[in-house]
This record gives sequence, C-alpha cells and structure tokens, in this order.
Amino acid sequence: MDPYFRELYGSRWPTLKSALKEEVRHIALVNPFCRTSEHERRRQLGEATANVMGLQVHSRAEPKDGSGGTYPVPPSDQAGVKAWYWMDLASLLPPLALRIGETDAVLDVCAAPGGKSIVMAQRLFRRHRVGSGAEGQAAGGCLVCNEMSASRRKRLNGVVSDYLPADVRSRVRLTGCDGTKLREHGVYDKVLVDAPCSSERHILMQRGPTRDHRSSRSKASPPVIDRWSPKQCKSFAKTQYAILKSALQCLKPGGRLVYSTCSVAVVENDFVVEKVLEKFGDPEGKIAVRVAEDRGFPDPKDRETLEQLGCERTNHGYCMLPDRSKFGPIYWCVLERVKGGRAVGAEDGTKAAGATSATIN
Ligand SMILES: C[S@@+](CC[C@H](N)C(=O)[O-])C[C@H]1O[C@@H](n2cnc3c(N)ncnc32)[C@H](O)[C@@H]1O
Repeated sequence: MDPYFRELYGSRWPTLKSALKEEVRHIALVNPFCRTSEHERRRQLGEATANVMGLQVHSRAEPKDGSGGTYPVPPSDQAGVKAWYWMDLASLLPPLALRIGETDAVLDVCAAPGGKSIVMAQRLFRRHRVGSGAEGQAAGGCLVCNEMSASRRKRLNGVVSDYLPADVRSRVRLTGCDGTKLREHGVYDKVLVDAPCSSERHILMQRGPTRDHRSSRSKASPPVIDRWSPKQCKSFAKTQYAILKSALQCLKPGGRLVYSTCSVAVVENDFVVEKVLEKFGDPEGKIAVRVAEDRGFPDPKDRETLEQLGCERTNHGYCMLPDRSKFGPIYWCVLERVKGGRAVGAEDGTKAAGATSATIN
C-alpha cells in the first residue's frame, strides 16, 4: 500500500496515512422529522450545534482522556422516529451536491446502510419537517433507495423506518437491483452513486486494536488481513464504472448525478469519471454527459464553507481527506446529463422490471 500511495500523494502520504488510522469523527445529524424537544436533544448532545448548508448537526465533545467517549443513543418520539443519526460529516456533502428540489424523483443506487438516503430525504421532504408550517403537504418528490445485498437492504429498511415518519416513508421505495443493470431509464432528476470502493480507511483501521466508541465496547482485534492491492483497486474501478454507466442512463435529460466513494485512490475517483467522459462526453451522443461547472455548489458561501471544512478540488470533483479536514475521506463529482441527449435501451419513463421492491412500514 505504501509505495502505491507514496507515488500518488508524495510526502503527504505518511500524514494522510496516520490520519486515516484515527477514529472516525462522527457528528449527530439532527432529524427534523422527529418530535423530541430541542431541550432534550441539547441536554444529551450539548450546545455545540452548526448549520451545514441547511442541515443541523451537533459536533461531539471529544473527551480529554483520548478514550473516544460514548455516543448518546438517540431517543425516539411517540411515532418511533429517532432524534439524530451519527455519521461522518463528510457523508453530508455528496447528497448536498445534488441540490435536491422538493419535486425531484431521486434514486440512491447504493444506499445501505442509509446515511446518505436520510440526508437526501431531509432535502426532498423538507415540508414535512416538524414546525415547517406545511407539515404533511406532499410536494410530489419521491426517493428510491436501491441496495443489491439482501442483508444490507434489511439494515437500510431499519434505518429508513427509524428516521422517517409514516407520511414520508410512503414516498420512499426500497429496491434490490444490481446497480450495473438498472432499467429505469430516463426516469430520475437526481441520482446518487455512492459506490462500493477500497475503503482504505476501513482497512487501515483494522490493523491493530480498535474500540467501537459508538457502543463503548472494546472489540477484539481482527486478524490483520491484507485485503488491499492495486489489483483490487482496479477491480473496484471496473465495478464503479459499470454502476456509473448504468446509473447515468436512469437520468432524465437535464438531470444530475453525484458519483462518490470513500477511497483515496484516484483510479476509483477521477479516473472513473474520465472513463465515463470518454464514453459519454460527445454532446451529440445518444447519452451526453458533462461535469457540472458549479461542482454542486453554485453559491460562493457554500464553496467557502467547503474550503473551511478542508475540502480540496480534484480534476473533476472534490475530495475531503482527514489529514486536512478531520473528516472523510470522501470524493465526489457532479455529472449532468446534457439536455437533448436521448436515453438508450428502454424508453424514457420505463419502470424497472424485476426489481426487488419493498414497501416500508
Ligand atoms: C459505500 S456503500 C454505500 C453507503 C451508503 N450510501 C450510505 O451512505 O449509508 C456501497 C454499497 O453498495 C452496495 N453494492 C455493491 N455492489 C452493488 C451493485 N452492483 N449494485 C448496487 N449496490 C451495490 C454494497 O452492498 C454497499 O452497501
């Protein structure tokens, strides 16, 4: 791993590597669909709140003894909706870059365990937020959360049920398609491909004793398994390209797709995008795609926030790496399907056939 990433990151690699080995810093994403009192939330999470581009988050007080501390378990309201969701702040950014509107049809291609789906639901169903003054008035948007793995889809179902109230859940559908073979062509305004990837941080964190701070329990050290190799990176890149190619076809002309990974390997990030641009970059092609000029954040204030958070521009997107930002890693790129391009394969507006579809209760 070291020679490969030293070549990519040069003298930055040792610092980045140690940052990747540190515990992930989680924030609590406040659930605006939950009816627990603000007082109760602040009592458990403390006063440190921030508004990250319209999403309310609590940062966690880090204990001075370096123990990592505990993660307060979110209480539920009377309808069983939980008050907050623990996640890496970096995971907020790809869904925010989609700039989801209230009437959008949204597809989350690789959705489990569901953190980014929850973020997208907050944007899409903002009228349903407690105290919004327009609660319960549906604005017409819908969210499809797809996950190929049955066990992970079960977890996704749990998260969606725990974090969304019934009226919102009725506008959410769970499917179990292979993301490389999506068939709902030309149907969606916004698509998120948060692709399976090498997850170097995860691999590096498995080397040596770990502590699961979210449950405050010590975990036995897993055996050191060298799951990482340049070959494995390339193999992920192939799958990522296949999913991305298939997902792009699900966009309506004019629609936007965010491609993201938590890999620090450029072959899984900008290179995958480059391959897609080689295939779909011709504006006269059946499907024409380009990188969105605004990279998902047209407002200069938001771009300033990204900078303050330590995000860095890459050739085609952004990345947030833990040596500069304390969060991540995450990479994302915003692609837009150029108006006028025609969908290939099934007719525009076709509904998926053969999808494992589940209604959430
Ligand atoms: C990085 S994780 C997604 C994390 C999720 N977006 C979140 O924020 O909680 C990638 C997911 O893609 C799923 N996956 C892998 N191959 C897939 C495929 N061909 N089609 C759809 N999903 C796939 C994996 O099971 C995994 O759950």
